[in-house]
Amino acid sequence: MSWDPDAFARALDFAAHAHRDQKVQGSGLPYVTHVVKVAQEVLRACAADPKLDATLAVCCALLHDTVEDTQVSVHALVELFGDRVAFGVQALSKDPSLPKEQRMADSLRRIRQAPKEVWTVKLADRITNLEPPPPDWTIEKRRAYAAEAQVILDALRDGSTWLAERLQARLQRYQRAC
Ligand code: NI
Repeated sequence: MSWDPDAFARALDFAAHAHRDQKVQGSGLPYVTHVVKVAQEVLRACAADPKLDATLAVCCALLHDTVEDTQVSVHALVELFGDRVAFGVQALSKDPSLPKEQRMADSLRRIRQAPKEVWTVKLADRITNLEPPPPDWTIEKRRAYAAEAQVILDALRDGSTWLAERLQARLQRYQRAC
């Protein structure tokens, strides 16, 4: 497996800048730590499956929250990182024009139309986010989050066997903590 280290560095710098005013919920660390964790999960998946394009996967991972959570446009990503990365990030971004309860299903539908590298980013994102729930979350909120993780796993498990198994294990640990 190999990936383009210059593309990795450019995407990391871009993400760090775009998320510079955001912190990770819970830990309070700079938000860029989240996207780096997602990136290392997808690189591990690419090591397990040489058919995956590791440069595409890692760039989508590093940039996956820029459109949804910052002022970055898909157009800017096309200019800087090309169509494949930009459309991958777009699929990974919820559409704010839809009612809130439809956004995840819509994004999953678009991810499933994208290359498998994009599927790995969504699996890796949820693995990274399935930390033990914050103490102020109600039991209903915890259960809803676990149920949503199951929906993601069911929709995208064919993206990466390695990540699907990892998400399954993480979900079981989370459910025990609920
Ligand atoms: Ni994320």
